[in-house]
Amino acid sequence: MVFPEYRPRRLRKNTAFRSLIRETRLDAAQLIYPLFVMPGKGKRLEIASMPGIFRLSVDLLAKEAKDCMALGVNHLLLFGLPEKKDAMGSGAHAKDGIVQRAIRELKNAVPEMMITTDVCLCEYTDHGHCGCLIDGQVDNDSTLEILTKVALSHAQAGADMVAPSDMMDGRVGEIRAALDENNFDQVPVMAYSAKYASAFYGPFREAADCAPQFGDRTSYQMDPANAREALREATLDVDEGADILMVKPAMAYLDIIKTLKDEFDLPIAAYHVSGEYAMIKAAAAKGWIDEERVMAESLLAIKRAGADIIITYYAKDMAKKLGS
Ligand code: PBG
Repeated sequence: MVFPEYRPRRLRKNTAFRSLIRETRLDAAQLIYPLFVMPGKGKRLEIASMPGIFRLSVDLLAKEAKDCMALGVNHLLLFGLPEKKDAMGSGAHAKDGIVQRAIRELKNAVPEMMITTDVCLCEYTDHGHCGCLIDGQVDNDSTLEILTKVALSHAQAGADMVAPSDMMDGRVGEIRAALDENNFDQVPVMAYSAKYASAFYGPFREAADCAPQFGDRTSYQMDPANAREALREATLDVDEGADILMVKPAMAYLDIIKTLKDEFDLPIAAYHVSGEYAMIKAAAAKGWIDEERVMAESLLAIKRAGADIIITYYAKDMAKKLGS
């Protein structure tokens, strides 16, 4: 028996020792803050199910970006709410589309802010699916053509990285090829490799107005029951040229984060999604949990599981805590 020769509490006896042996630390430079951009001027609308998170019009983005920078958050993930939707999601690749305008505004005002864009059609289609429909089914290959246009239009507007979240087969390769052919070989692709068909996206669908008008997303997003399938998805994305592999949602999928971290040598990102944020907010509002501590513990757990990068609506609050 090792006890009492080895006593783990010796190294827990004060803050200095605990800090000395701490295995995982969060860093604001590895947090990405999602932003929702909406049409209009002077618009700042709070999302009911995501207290503290706002839809912002383009003219208010620069101030938001500066606030983020001041806290040490230097990377944004942009989602757009277009003025109009149509069956093919054509607003997603419009030259003067909402995200394209947002990128130009941000790059102009705060050039050092890194901008990743969501490449997907669900906010832009009138039926709310992430691809275009043929005979009522989300069609894979015709969607790819549109997605490459979206990614290219974002790169042309100045995006630093693109993140396809649609879960169509082959999209990473098609987007990589389109970027390369157009002199954007330096724009990385962050692949939503293991994106599960999750109920944790509920509040986001309100925020981005992108709930499917019929059916659900189970024919393209992954079954929450499957772990080995995540390896197949990630292998495809690596082969197609992905630069970063993402797991989404985060907390219910820590095993997947760990598996991808162990199996691949690319940086791993995890998306701490809207429902995960909303649950903490709701319980905290009732006084049932300590919001700040649950936030920090959640993000730490995601990092400990293997995420290098965390996309979270708590990015600013976490950065504030880290800096204080
Ligand atoms: C859609 C998209 C979704 C999220 C990011 N991109 C929703 C969905 O797939 O239905 C969810 C993000 C969140 O819940 O915070 N392309």
